[in-house]
Amino acid sequence: MKQKTVLTGISTTGTPHLGNYAGAIRPAIELSKTHDNAYFFLADLHSLIKCQDPELVNQSRLEIAATWMALGLDTDKAIFYRQSDIEEIPQITWLLNCVTAKGTMNRAHAYKAAVDENLAQENDPDRGITMGLFSYPVLMAADILTFNADLVPVGSDQRQHVEIAREIAQRFNHIYQAEFFVMPQEVIDDETAILPGLDGRKMSKSYNNTIPLFLPEKKLQKAINRIVTNSLEPGEAKDPDSAHLFDIYKAFGTTEETAAFRAALIDGMGWGDAKKALFNLINEQIQESRERYYELMANPQIIEETLQKGAERARIPAREMLQKLKDAVGLRNFI
Ligand code: TRP
Repeated sequence: MKQKTVLTGISTTGTPHLGNYAGAIRPAIELSKTHDNAYFFLADLHSLIKCQDPELVNQSRLEIAATWMALGLDTDKAIFYRQSDIEEIPQITWLLNCVTAKGTMNRAHAYKAAVDENLAQENDPDRGITMGLFSYPVLMAADILTFNADLVPVGSDQRQHVEIAREIAQRFNHIYQAEFFVMPQEVIDDETAILPGLDGRKMSKSYNNTIPLFLPEKKLQKAINRIVTNSLEPGEAKDPDSAHLFDIYKAFGTTEETAAFRAALIDGMGWGDAKKALFNLINEQIQESRERYYELMANPQIIEETLQKGAERARIPAREMLQKLKDAVGLRNFI
């Protein structure tokens, strides 16, 4: 039986932090080890919706590409590319746009949230909303359907987008009377760690509470020291279950390490020592990748070549799909 095709897009905004690593990057790289047909791409066309600063757009995609490569994504096996290098994708997006119900887009949650925010502020409901934001799910459907991905690992916030991709696929298959697209399935792992940030809320750029993944060692130590704890003194018993520092530890420690850390906290380990232990744990795990990361950032041509090779591989099925779809809708050569 044909192995299932796995595909996921990586949004290219901001600098990757520990939460991105534990919640998305690490599980995706694991998945790539067990699947031969894996597509990973930088969703850089999507990034233009959120960021209109060209330098930032470019810097973020470079950093994120370097991060995935430094963490050991096997780019000979997995197909790793920039969305914007595959020109078939925007063309397929248009073909999909023409079968997508506007009503479906009205219900898409990112757009709805933006409208609700405007209404809450008593602004015009359309204020600040671009067609990019409105039609975001169609581009995402094209990302997925171009390669007939079976499995789409995403965070739970992306569930609706994969549902919309199925709806669009079905509609296209129905109108043009053939199985052009298989139905993609979202893969949402509830086990995957959602890391708290410095202040205990979910680690997120929007809360400004992140710990960037590849901070230089000293800065990593400093950032970890800024994790908020209570004021219990060394010698006093700490409750691991109410300490988000413990939740962060859990995402990196083995079962045994975590059990020992838990016991030590209950036993009165001071927060200073706990932070040192957390730093050592994380630092050890990312040390080598961090070195590779800085090496790659200093040699962007290695990243460029890798992505160009990935694009070449991705373009083969993309071209084939576009040809098939153009033919189906009636955009054919005359002779
Ligand atoms: N929208 C996704 C996110 O914000 C990124 C993305 C773009 C994606 N295209 C995709 C994910 C296709 C999976 C499949 O995280």
